[in-house]
Amino acid sequence: MSRAQICIVDDNATWLAKIARLIQGADLGDAVMYLHPREALVSLSARHPDVLLVDYNMPAMNGIEFLTALHATGVSLRTPVALVAGAVTGPMKLQAWHAGVMEVMPKSARREEITLRLRNLVRMAALSPAAHPADAGSPPVARDAIDEERSTLRVLERLAALRDETTGKHTERMARYASVIAATLGLSPTVCQRLQDAAPLHDLGKIGIPDAVLSKPGKLSKDEWDVMRRHTTIGYELLRDHHSPTLRLGAEIALSHHEHFDGGGYPLGLSGDNIPQAGRIVALADVFDALTTVRPYKSAWLVEQAIDQIVEDSGSHFDPDVVTAFTSSIDELVAIKAHYDAAEAYAPLVPLPN
Ligand SMILES: [Fe+2]
Repeated sequence: MSRAQICIVDDNATWLAKIARLIQGADLGDAVMYLHPREALVSLSARHPDVLLVDYNMPAMNGIEFLTALHATGVSLRTPVALVAGAVTGPMKLQAWHAGVMEVMPKSARREEITLRLRNLVRMAALSPAAHPADAGSPPVARDAIDEERSTLRVLERLAALRDETTGKHTERMARYASVIAATLGLSPTVCQRLQDAAPLHDLGKIGIPDAVLSKPGKLSKDEWDVMRRHTTIGYELLRDHHSPTLRLGAEIALSHHEHFDGGGYPLGLSGDNIPQAGRIVALADVFDALTTVRPYKSAWLVEQAIDQIVEDSGSHFDPDVVTAFTSSIDELVAIKAHYDAAEAYAPLVPLPN
């Protein structure tokens, strides 16, 4: 097994940061953190963690309910799981063991104890191929193909980030917004994960836009806007023929994320359902993130102001169904934003999900 991927699901950002530092400090593997169980369900159904550390007390669903829902998506609970809780009770332990949980520990356990228990689970995952659902019954080449696709995505995301006028985690954050909105629209966990993987490529085409236009401090002329708008078609052309369905979805998103529901967008002036759904979702996620973060030309809007603006643009800029899903999932979106805000403050110490 390469480096262990230890996924932590907990609604407490402070605890997430603490455990991530512990995992890093003891070199147990790579920590992948989820602040909201529903977001974790979407991601983990495709990711297959090596070890899972789940909080019992979470607002949307408790840890056992989360594990049951994860199992229903097809992820085997043979992945070593540890359950943590503020206070561990006897009935809770029985419930956890019935659900196949290996370790139940209080959050107050000593750092050394948590480290040793996690280390044992990592060893267990490494020793037993059957404990790794992604490996069980799958030819190695399939895993290699997934790894290759992820590596390609990372390279392209970094390439896209080089030409992004924003700093920080814009593409990663907006991709997670898009995934949550897609889940609220009823799309399957697999589709939501693919959307999350592909969304960061929406502005990849900016690598083909000259600096004189992309980095111009003042307003763009009409001709310059025409050049800037080409980032949609450039991104599409770069990605459209790739054998990976995720990269081809990236091509579709690159082409369609500036279309408007009423036909007033670009580059094709598509309207309504003629705009690919992924493009309609990413369009809103992109704008929500742009409005609520600092950009060189603006300060960050309050979330409430951004909601008002997006609702006002429902039916013109945005798909009304996507706007409804957005407002319905606003608590999750705000939690993701808070997580990134906190993580940026801890930037040197807290690894973010891949
Ligand atoms: Fe764009």
